[in-house]
Amino acid sequence: MNLSKMRHCLDLSSWTVEQYQFFFMKIQALKSQGYAAIKKATNPRPIGLIFQEASTRTRVSFEKVADHLGCPTYLIESNTSLSKGESVLDTVYTLSAMGIKDFVIRSSTDEIFEIADRYSDGFLINAGSGSCHHPTQGLLDAYTVWETFGRLQNLQITMVGDLVHSRVARSNIQWMKAFGICPKLCGPAPWVDDFEMDAIDIKQDMDEAIADADVVILHRVQNERLQANETYHVADFTAQYGMTIQRLAQIKANAIVMHPGPINRGIEIQSEVADHAKSKIQTQVENGVWTRIALLQMLLGSGE
Ligand code: CP
Repeated sequence: MNLSKMRHCLDLSSWTVEQYQFFFMKIQALKSQGYAAIKKATNPRPIGLIFQEASTRTRVSFEKVADHLGCPTYLIESNTSLSKGESVLDTVYTLSAMGIKDFVIRSSTDEIFEIADRYSDGFLINAGSGSCHHPTQGLLDAYTVWETFGRLQNLQITMVGDLVHSRVARSNIQWMKAFGICPKLCGPAPWVDDFEMDAIDIKQDMDEAIADADVVILHRVQNERLQANETYHVADFTAQYGMTIQRLAQIKANAIVMHPGPINRGIEIQSEVADHAKSKIQTQVENGVWTRIALLQMLLGSGE
């Protein structure tokens, strides 16, 4: 896949190391020039933002990016006919009939892949699909690590928490695979299972999992995705897997802590850690804007 010819952004399964490097350089160049230097797209197009699930970071960053590029946005969320049971595919067809051909979609399932098979009038960006994929978060996380260390190869990355319900964890594993990273996964046994990856190291002990980490990525307990029979005791989870200030003191001096957000302060991350100098949480949010500008420029065929 030539990135400049990419049609959709559904997942990161086909991205190569060279494509990531090219994309990171593009983000870096945009970020170094600042918001004032962003040029309007040469062919701005209206963009439908279909958000079947709640979002702050992803939705607002796409709105801001589209604004910079001169692309009007049309937001479809829970107060629309989605709430009457209209499918995401029919929502795409409906907006398409109004002349809105390009879409950013957050859905509760992976149906964006089926939509991509049936819809060919514009681009589709997966803004998070159930527990399956969140490619733009994966890209901004990868960029944040690359920006910090100047490389992704030969880094020890530990992901902690409710990974099995996490689309971010799955997208992160896709770029880690490409870079030959063998991540450590840590959390309660049922929440770190089900990952299709040969080079993976599952740890139940948090202190052991973070001891030699360069990057610790925490993941939110996704209460909304737990099955009726899946229960956990918050205090036990925090004691065993929470990133506390005591645990922060154990990690390597130049190690960083990341979290895609939204964060549960006091559950998977203590407040002092979230606001600590080692925390890259706000940098991730900022990089999300630059990542999405780079992506939209490519899909619109604007920018170098
Ligand atoms: N990380 C992330 O996707 O955040 P939002 O749900 O706020 O978009």
